[in-house]
Amino acid sequence: MKQVLVTGANGRTGRRVIDKLLKHGASIRAFVRREEAARDMLAMGVGECLIGNLESEADLYRAVKDVQQLVHICPPMHPLEDRIGKALVSAAASSGVELFVEYSVLHPVIEVPHHRRKLAVEAALIDSGMPYVILQPARYMQHLNPIWAELLRDGRHVLPFSTKTRFSLVDLEDLAEAVMRVLTQPHHAYATYQLAGPEQLSMQDCAQRLTSLLGRDVEAIERDEDSFRKVLEASGAAPERIQTMLTMNRHYSAHGLAGNSNVLRWLLGREPTRFEDFVTRELLAKNA
Ligand SMILES: NC(=O)c1ccc[n+]([C@@H]2O[C@H](COP(=O)([O-])OP(=O)(O)OC[C@H]3O[C@@H](n4cnc5c(N)ncnc54)[C@H](OP(=O)(O)O)[C@@H]3O)[C@@H](O)[C@H]2O)c1
Repeated sequence: MKQVLVTGANGRTGRRVIDKLLKHGASIRAFVRREEAARDMLAMGVGECLIGNLESEADLYRAVKDVQQLVHICPPMHPLEDRIGKALVSAAASSGVELFVEYSVLHPVIEVPHHRRKLAVEAALIDSGMPYVILQPARYMQHLNPIWAELLRDGRHVLPFSTKTRFSLVDLEDLAEAVMRVLTQPHHAYATYQLAGPEQLSMQDCAQRLTSLLGRDVEAIERDEDSFRKVLEASGAAPERIQTMLTMNRHYSAHGLAGNSNVLRWLLGREPTRFEDFVTRELLAKNA
């Protein structure tokens, strides 16, 4: 059986990807950075854990040894994402990895720092000659989860960018299934797949849908940049990360982030999840 390395294994995306892969019977090596995370992963059913630092080339070489496939899920907005990705591409190519799945982002070409760092990794992967799949996911519907309690309490859907620009919000469950499919089905090598949800939704559109689902008014509110910056500073975020987030939010306010769902529909063999169905399944049912 093929051994699959998953980086960022203990994160929000990594865990859902691993869950889908385990249900499919895959053999997994999880790259984590803490003992505690390794214990959790083993309890989930992962066969092998490697505790390391993605910033260490030696750890990357250890991680790819004897794996046939890998999915690289870099920590979000990591300032060294380009360097880490390129080093992992070199390590994987030299160790004969048969398929490298890069978990990138929708529209890596836009002028937002972490998109550009992912673009550099995509280029290195294409140039490597190694079989690859580049996945370009849109913004997650799951961004609603951490603000759900506040939204229910105040009837306000607050995010730090325009309430009017549109996003092809996508369900992380669909994305995890798509990752599992490109790893376990043949014939995806050398593909770049845009993975976007089925509707272009603004925060106002989401608030309207939530109003219907909850049977009470939900208002979309744009949090201003200064107050958002203060929240980030108080949370101890590094200045570079704060700058990246503010640049991203300005871009979102000006342009949104829209894509097309045809490829995701084809990969899943069904309709991608709609916003109302996500809210019903992941938020209303669990909190009922
Ligand atoms: N959110 C979106 O809408 C969206 C859309 C498109 C693409 N993406 C991409 O999805 C990817 C994953 O995001 P996520 O939200 O799943 O991330 P996450 O939940 O923050 O998980 C990141 C994981 O990386 C681990 N990590 C951090 N630094 C590390 C290091 N130096 N060495 C080893 N491991 C390290 C963390 O370990 P600990 O568990 O120990 O903290 C954590 O498990 C990102 O690349 C992001 O750009 C996200």
